[in-house]
Amino acid sequence: MDTILKIRDVTKKYKNTNVISNLNMTIKKGEIYGFLGQNGAGKTTTLKMIMGLTKPTNGIIEVFGEQISSKKYMYKSRIGALIETPGFYPNLSALDNLEIHRRSMGIQDKNCIEEALNLVGLSNVKKKSVKNFSLGMKQRLAIARALLQKPELLILDEPTIGLDPVGISDIRKIILTLNKERKVTVIMSSHVLSEIQQMATKIGIIHKGVLLDEIEYKELEEKNKNYLQIRVNDDKKAAITLEQKCGINQYTVYENGIIRIFEKLDDIEFINNQMLINGIGVSELNLNSEKLEDYFLRLIGGGEIV
Ligand SMILES: Nc1ncnc2c1ncn2[C@@H]1O[C@H](COP(=O)(O)OP(=O)(O)OP(=O)(O)O)[C@@H](O)[C@H]1O
Ligand SMILES: [Mg+2]
Repeated sequence: MDTILKIRDVTKKYKNTNVISNLNMTIKKGEIYGFLGQNGAGKTTTLKMIMGLTKPTNGIIEVFGEQISSKKYMYKSRIGALIETPGFYPNLSALDNLEIHRRSMGIQDKNCIEEALNLVGLSNVKKKSVKNFSLGMKQRLAIARALLQKPELLILDEPTIGLDPVGISDIRKIILTLNKERKVTVIMSSHVLSEIQQMATKIGIIHKGVLLDEIEYKELEEKNKNYLQIRVNDDKKAAITLEQKCGINQYTVYENGIIRIFEKLDDIEFINNQMLINGIGVSELNLNSEKLEDYFLRLIGGGEIV
């Protein structure tokens, strides 16, 4: 898989205080990377550094294989960004606002505006003044603006902030469509786990400028399910026993004899007995019911997510 973005050992200081500390992050083509952290964690600062809007104090950022400290920001046309609330001319229509942006970006293709409005579902209100737009409509317009140059990488800083559940779900659909149909790689920040966990292929958790963990999609799914984890001395034999004796097919085998079982958890004793009857040693048996939300809270030290 191609690497789109690489952040290596990046530190950002404001007035001698580390706002970002030794950040390492890799984003591959096709990923939807959810950047999760509380207020002040350093999400916007990181996204701004990727966009070249503020410089890292130390470390290297590479986008499309090019280091961004170089004077010319060559790849900017390949990135679409929505960072903090963008300003629009309130008395102008959505169409005119996007036209101004198109010209300022030097985008030749005039059709890009209609296409972007269509994608975010604003075609029917394109002639309305932006001052009469609801928050959700402004948010969609901001995404449309980020899409004008048909970016390969889309950077969205809290795109769902302030939206109601329907608005959040609409933005989620737009992002998924862009990702699936146009193969756009997405980095999206949020301070609310539930808003990104349903679409992210990977979640990075940042706290006080430190990336505490990165969780892949598969792990995300597993973290949200209850499962029984056992450690056995013969994983092949155990897998056969699970399938043939216990009728269990939803399980994953890991290294060192670890198996996670996701079904029939109401009769753990039966599973254990079947292992013993079939001569398999079980040295560990834990029922895990920690949800991703709990995990996140534990990771950041039990703080309230605001
Ligand atoms: N220009 C600046 N000068 C000084 N400190 C700054 C500046 N910009 C950000 N900070 C500090 O850096 C830290 C991280 O801020 P940042 O905006 O990146 O957080 P965030 O994760 O985006 O938070 P939020 O969820 O509130 O948007 C905060 O402590 C903030 O006060
Ligand atoms: Mg922010």
